Amino acid sequence: IDPDTPPETLSERSLRAVAQFIKDGRAKRIVVMTGAGISTAAGIPDFRSPKTGLYHNLSRFNLPHPEAVFEIDFFRTNPEPFYLLAKELYPGNFSPTVSHAFIALLAKKGLLRMLFTQNIDCLERAAGVPSEKIVEAHGSFATQRCIECRTEFPDDLMREHVKRGEAPRCIRKGCGGLVKPDIVFFGEQLPEAFYNNISVPNTADLMLVMGTSLLVHPFAGLPRRAQEGVPRVLFNLERVGDMGSRADDVLVLGDCDSGIRKLADELGWRDELEALWRSI
Ligand code: APR
Repeated sequence: IDPDTPPETLSERSLRAVAQFIKDGRAKRIVVMTGAGISTAAGIPDFRSPKTGLYHNLSRFNLPHPEAVFEIDFFRTNPEPFYLLAKELYPGNFSPTVSHAFIALLAKKGLLRMLFTQNIDCLERAAGVPSEKIVEAHGSFATQRCIECRTEFPDDLMREHVKRGEAPRCIRKGCGGLVKPDIVFFGEQLPEAFYNNISVPNTADLMLVMGTSLLVHPFAGLPRRAQEGVPRVLFNLERVGDMGSRADDVLVLGDCDSGIRKLADELGWRDELEALWRSI
């Protein structure tokens, strides 16, 4: 690096390069991947952050292990812990962050090829990302059904039960099976939409990975699908997955909202971003 490089950090210089790449019109098919880290600023805990992560705060449910709260076999015999957690996580009590707004801004500018999210909080939809541009890889709370006969359960009845932290039972005569939101539990198949779009990251001309530990497969394998030479930008508190292993990777380590605001500044989109965020 030439000695009189300005004192800015490497990531600031490379964020400038990413912004230039977008301004030069070389990023028309941006693929974004998100995890719980983009919703922590909305007040929703992520799963694995030390101390604040959900998996470190479920002791009140005395689970065999933290992930059991999202395991179908445990749920079948003991749905209470999940429903008590659902009461805290249920959409409607939280608002999108500026990171969610940035993804909506990309869509508004016609630059978002697809957003793959692991989050079940529906904040991307709330931020205004068009639903045809969202793959909710781990499902969402938007719909629910009986885990035995798959009969759908009415939304309004579901809201009542979640408010009371109670597990609803199937409405079909003689079934009586437990009802579960359509979020993907460990041991369950990911939605068809995930597999129908799994090769979309291969066609990206820019990839943004935000707020995820990249620990849970098959989602965690998506960033590797970017072609060699396609810039992959990580906005995360810590380095994760294979991010940083390629010459065109850019690591913006720290709070994703501040990283995104820096990128918006470099793009000259900051006022538009803040106005959009305020309007959501
Ligand atoms: N800014 C940037 N990064 C953040 C922030 C923030 N404000 N807050 C948290 N992070 C980072 C954490 O450092 C961590 O690397 O986001 C990541 C969150 O990782 P997880 O808690 O593991 O969440 P996620 O990757 O979404 O989990 C994947 O695990 O339990 C399953 O199905 C569940 O979809 C979930 C999947």
